[in-house]
Amino acid sequence: MRMVDIIEKKRDGKALSTQEINFFIEGYTKGTIPDYQASALAMAIYFQDMDERERADLTLAMVNSGDTIDLSSIQGIKVDKHSTGGVGDTTTLVLAPLVASLGVPVAKMSGRGLGHTGGTIDKLESIKGFHVELTKEQFIDLVNKDKVAVMSPSGNLTPADKKLYALRDVTGTVNSIPLIASSIMSKKIAAGADAIVLDVKTGYGAFMKTEKDAEELAHAMVRIGNNVGRKTVAIISDMSQPLGFAIGNALEVKEAIDTLKGKGPKDLTKLVLTLGSQMVILAGKAKNTDEAKQMLLDSINNGKAIAKFKEFIQNQGGDTSIIEDTSKLPQAKYKIELPALKSGYVSRMIANEIGIASMLLGAGRATKDDKIDLAVGIVLHKKIGDKVEKGESLLTIYSNKENITEVKQKLYDNIFIEDTATKPTLIHEIIT
Ligand code: URA
Ligand code: CA
Repeated sequence: MRMVDIIEKKRDGKALSTQEINFFIEGYTKGTIPDYQASALAMAIYFQDMDERERADLTLAMVNSGDTIDLSSIQGIKVDKHSTGGVGDTTTLVLAPLVASLGVPVAKMSGRGLGHTGGTIDKLESIKGFHVELTKEQFIDLVNKDKVAVMSPSGNLTPADKKLYALRDVTGTVNSIPLIASSIMSKKIAAGADAIVLDVKTGYGAFMKTEKDAEELAHAMVRIGNNVGRKTVAIISDMSQPLGFAIGNALEVKEAIDTLKGKGPKDLTKLVLTLGSQMVILAGKAKNTDEAKQMLLDSINNGKAIAKFKEFIQNQGGDTSIIEDTSKLPQAKYKIELPALKSGYVSRMIANEIGIASMLLGAGRATKDDKIDLAVGIVLHKKIGDKVEKGESLLTIYSNKENITEVKQKLYDNIFIEDTATKPTLIHEIIT
């Protein structure tokens, strides 16, 4: 088989065979196929697309390019959740203990973040003592015993995706539905998920800016999952403004604790119940969404959800006293209010720019070697549709730097106040 023939076949709009896709992924991973041929093929895929069978083949080829995690010694159906990434997205911190409190095993592989805030592991590390350095045996034992554990992935997972994603990044081929969908799904499958719930974000803060693009990506991933034997459901949710109020690591841990106690922001709570009920159904613990939602709500109201969070933190060495006293979480030196410059209604918030403001404070990483300041970030007081008086605080900035003129300006530039406003719809669609 010759790579040049594969490139020409795709260039001319024909479907590649399973063998051709495997040849490409194996050769590219090993280094026998050079970057220039891989980038030519990526560009051909960008223009000519892939059919459903090719997408599933590409996903499995990438799964098989490296190690996979075997979770078969964990009892029950392992359901994983994946978000395409948003601003102030605190859902995993809430969902993991919440669904675990209903007996659904949550064996979470999570990474450090790049971008606005940290990843789930960074956020959890704002709890003193919490660590993710578990052996695979400890991890599996914890999930079997208490239903929830988080670790950073060990081994060499989906090396083909790592190499291809980096190449796409510099060849103008990131934005291709078959390539994005196979990239995301290969990572979830390699991490051992039996079933997958996807949270596909749409809006200014999201990777997919329009609802149509988000829908297309969601459908593509659901088809791949179901075609390779992993039940997959996608939810399309709004990211035209940050989720909840808090953006920043320790601030989001506090928000998660509030939510697990039933006192969280409305939008975050609603999204958690929507995603959580799909997870509970896929795990076989409820027959329909009404039943699943009620089970989740009961768990919040009777204290089981927050008790599970406590057990989870304790199991991984964290200081559980932060649950009763969140002032023990890392605290920023300065709390600075941002007063509204005029009266009206908050009409738009450019979520990704607000995320960047939080990153400038130190809450996120611009490059992968940056160190995160766990204490800093932003807590919104107003969201889209809220009325605001001139001089009233729009948000509080938590900072360890006194001079934050640049951050303030960025926030003012990206929060709009007008005479009228409409609240965005949070859940657009559920795709099964
Ligand atoms: N996120 C991924 O993991 N892969 C892509 O291709 C795009 C976004
Ligand atoms: Ca949040």
